[in-house]
This record gives sequence, structure tokens and C-alpha cells, in this order.
Amino acid sequence: MNMESDNKVQWVYASENNQELEERYDEWAKDYDEDLESDFGYVMPRAAAKAFEGFVSKDAKVLDAGAGTGLVGRELHRLGYANLDAMDMSGGMLEVARSKGVYGELHQMTMGGPLGFDTNSYDAAICVGVLTLGHAPAHSLDELVRITKPGGCVLFTLRPDIYERNGFRERQRMLESDGKWELAHVSEEFQGLPKGEPDVYFQVWVYKVKPN
Ligand SMILES: C[S@@+](CC[C@H](N)C(=O)[O-])C[C@H]1O[C@@H](n2cnc3c(N)ncnc32)[C@H](O)[C@@H]1O
Repeated sequence: MNMESDNKVQWVYASENNQELEERYDEWAKDYDEDLESDFGYVMPRAAAKAFEGFVSKDAKVLDAGAGTGLVGRELHRLGYANLDAMDMSGGMLEVARSKGVYGELHQMTMGGPLGFDTNSYDAAICVGVLTLGHAPAHSLDELVRITKPGGCVLFTLRPDIYERNGFRERQRMLESDGKWELAHVSEEFQGLPKGEPDVYFQVWVYKVKPN
């Protein structure tokens, strides 16, 4: 692919359906780390992993949902997490994630529908850069809650504008009023891609799952 990395971001965002999104991530997979880290100064995996450390013990069994090429897994592994599984819709991204050697199981699945994991399979789930426009919708959170054990945490990053406008505010509040989870932490807004998209801000949200 001969395309500037800022165009690649727009290119995946312009996907018209899940199949196209998956194919575009498959194609981007080999260049993704270099493009995001060098050209965009992508800090979200590190910021999310640092927040995660404040809520989840190092022996936890963790699902990295929308793991991509494993940048989040790499950060968590550096911090001492050793029981990590990856899940993503893109086989190409998962192949790169596998090569990082930080995950046990890698699963190709699509958020937005039912996930092929038993209820209460994980101590915690982390989801970075995935709950966004044209990617995984707000109701994907329901499944992350289902597969996380009571007392465990679900951590995710979210743009404040998407929280307001794309159904996340309502979904997050509904899960709270239904007694499924309670808010443990929401970060200040920060630039997730300070070099490439300095005007785009994100927050880290952490919820604690309640007994079912
Ligand atoms: C911007 S990347 C983030 C990857 C990784 N979490 C990171 O921070 O580098 C978005 C990832 O989400 C995956 N993705 C998008 N929509 C998805 C969905 N509905 N279900 C599962 N994975 C999805 C893409 O394949 C891609 O790997």
C-alpha cells in the first residue's frame, strides 16, 4: 500500500461495513505500529496500561479486546501482566500481535454481536482505540461486562464527542442503572495521537463489574 499514514487512518474510518473494515486492517497490519508510533506519536496503549495497573492485579487473566497488533499487550506485559489473551476482527492484525509473543490465546471475533467466551471468563478486559466511529458500537460493552467476572474491571478509551453523540453515554448509564457495573475512574481528557491528530482527545474509563 502506497499511502501516507494519515490517509490510512481516514481510509479505515471510511470503511462502509465490518467486512471492509477487517480487510483494510488486514492490509494495514504490517505497517500499523510504525505508522502510529512514529507518525502519530500514539500514546494510548501506554496511558491505558498505566491506568489499568491501578485497578487490576498482575496475576489477572486479561482479555485485550480489539487488540490489533498487540501494542496494548506489549505495554501490559512490560508492566508484569503475563496472562493475556487477544481478540480482534482482523486476522492480519492478530498475526502481528502473535509475533509479539505476549499473548496466550488469540481469537478472531467481532464485537457488536455475541462473543464466543463463557460468562465470567476473564478477571478484566481492556479495549483501546476500538470503541469508535465505524468500529465497535456502544452495545459491545454488554458483552465485555458479561465475560468479565464480578469484581473485575472493564477499561476502555473513548473520545468525549463519541461518548456524547454515539450512544455511549446512554449505554454506560444503562449498565450502571441495571446494576451491571459501577464507575471506578474516568481520566482527564488527553491527546491520544499528539503528533498526528493533536485536536483529538480521549479519556480512559474504568468500570467495576458487579455480581450477576
Ligand atoms: C485503532 S486499532 C486499535 C488496536 C489496538 N487496541 C491499539 O491500541 O493499537 C482498532 C482495532 O480494532 C479492531 N476492530 C474494529 N472494529 C472491531 C470490532 N467490531 N470487533 C473487533 N475488533 C474490531 C480492528 O481490527 C483494529 O485492530
